[in-house]
Amino acid sequence: MTRPLSLGDQRDTALEHAARMVANAWRDFDTARDVETETSPALLDALAEPLPTGPGDVLVNLDLAGDVLDASVAQARPRYLAYIGSSGLEVGALADLLAHSYDINLALDARAATRLERQAISWLAQFLGFPATAGSFTSGGTISNLTGLAAARERALPGSRSTGMCGHRVAIYASAEAHYSVTRAAELLGIGRDWVRSVSIDDRRRMRPDDLAARIDADVDAGITPIAVVASAGTTLTGAVDPIGAIADVCQPRGVWLHVDGAYGLPASTTSAAPLFAGLDRVDSLGVDAHKWMFVPKACSAVLVRWTTDLSSAFAHDEAYIPHEGDELNAVDVTLEYSRPFRALKLWLALRVHGADAFRAAIEANLEQARLMYRLASERADFQTRPYPPQLSIVPIRHVVPGCPDVDRHNDELCRAMQRDGRVYVSPAVIDGQTWLRPCFTNFRTTTDDVRVTLDVAAELGAALCPQH
Ligand SMILES: Cc1ncc(COP(=O)(O)O)c(C=O)c1O
Repeated sequence: MTRPLSLGDQRDTALEHAARMVANAWRDFDTARDVETETSPALLDALAEPLPTGPGDVLVNLDLAGDVLDASVAQARPRYLAYIGSSGLEVGALADLLAHSYDINLALDARAATRLERQAISWLAQFLGFPATAGSFTSGGTISNLTGLAAARERALPGSRSTGMCGHRVAIYASAEAHYSVTRAAELLGIGRDWVRSVSIDDRRRMRPDDLAARIDADVDAGITPIAVVASAGTTLTGAVDPIGAIADVCQPRGVWLHVDGAYGLPASTTSAAPLFAGLDRVDSLGVDAHKWMFVPKACSAVLVRWTTDLSSAFAHDEAYIPHEGDELNAVDVTLEYSRPFRALKLWLALRVHGADAFRAAIEANLEQARLMYRLASERADFQTRPYPPQLSIVPIRHVVPGCPDVDRHNDELCRAMQRDGRVYVSPAVIDGQTWLRPCFTNFRTTTDDVRVTLDVAAELGAALCPQH
């Protein structure tokens, strides 16, 4: 019998073909390419075709998919230094293929897969040095932050998931440079965006614990309930790490939940940057994106909590279609999502194949690339750097040409010129009203040569943009 959606006798051929495509892509990613592939007119035509109603050849269409991928911005490439990239770790991609083929749902007890997820959470906690008793994999830092803050809301106002806020005025505290996902969580949890207190930052752009304490105390005096403080362990703009220990000193005596948004930076707590993260063992919850600085493909974040009951208080429920076996919690009793892909597998397999030390070494290499970029740019007359060296792996630089009438516009145009040029992909950032180029090193494929090339390309294209000077 031929099933309508089977690949039939082409199945093995298709798999072998796809495997060859992946092998070619990996080889291509080993070194940066000097020119990006154009989106050809033929490809644009194919991407405008109407819904196919009949079958197409699988090999032809795999090749078409390959053409699309090849003409797309791929974060896996070694000179993708924009935003906070992920790198499509090879063994992680293999794990994804396997996980998606079995299509296990981690909403319920999936037997061995559920145990693996627990083990991966426990390994992640050990890796980071956080005494978690529970956690789950999520689709990203946004959901990890939302999950941690939902648990914090229920702790601060028990029963609020049933009753709502009942007129209570509540607040969340985060540095002025926290990621927008914290504000979004406040919007979605009924706290309200206007109740996210923007705590001031110091000259290194870290949260000021004295301002935090003053804001919490003023709110409590005014009858406002603090829900949580969110410390950023690596801000998105400059990679600043808030002083977690000093923030815990503010939170603990006041009984306020401390969540660490470590989506980007937390894996660096396992390297020479560890002192920046002192106090992590004292927090209530944290989020970390394995799809950023642990290199596995998107989407793979995790939220870890000190106490399991904090997650179950916020998420446990009874529904006729998901009965409980005795006291056993289902995965959906400690997490936000229902259909949950087997995200843990890629991190678990990667840790088994490479070992934690290899991850530390790769993160350390990125930190060294950031320091090199800062040193080289600081030594050059045609670049401006920030007053302090990078805390993590984001290194804002500004191309400066003597007499240039508008340095911000120049750097904005330079950034776009670099993206068009294709040798290096960087994104812009506006810091204190000034436009900067913002290279960010989170890719295990990036080399020190790529750091030098980035500066050379920026200097070359920058000089071409402002030839009159
Ligand atoms: C500090 C920080 N928190 C949260 C997020 C959101 O993470 P995601 O895009 O995985 O949802 C980001 C994304 O860059 C981030 O940098």
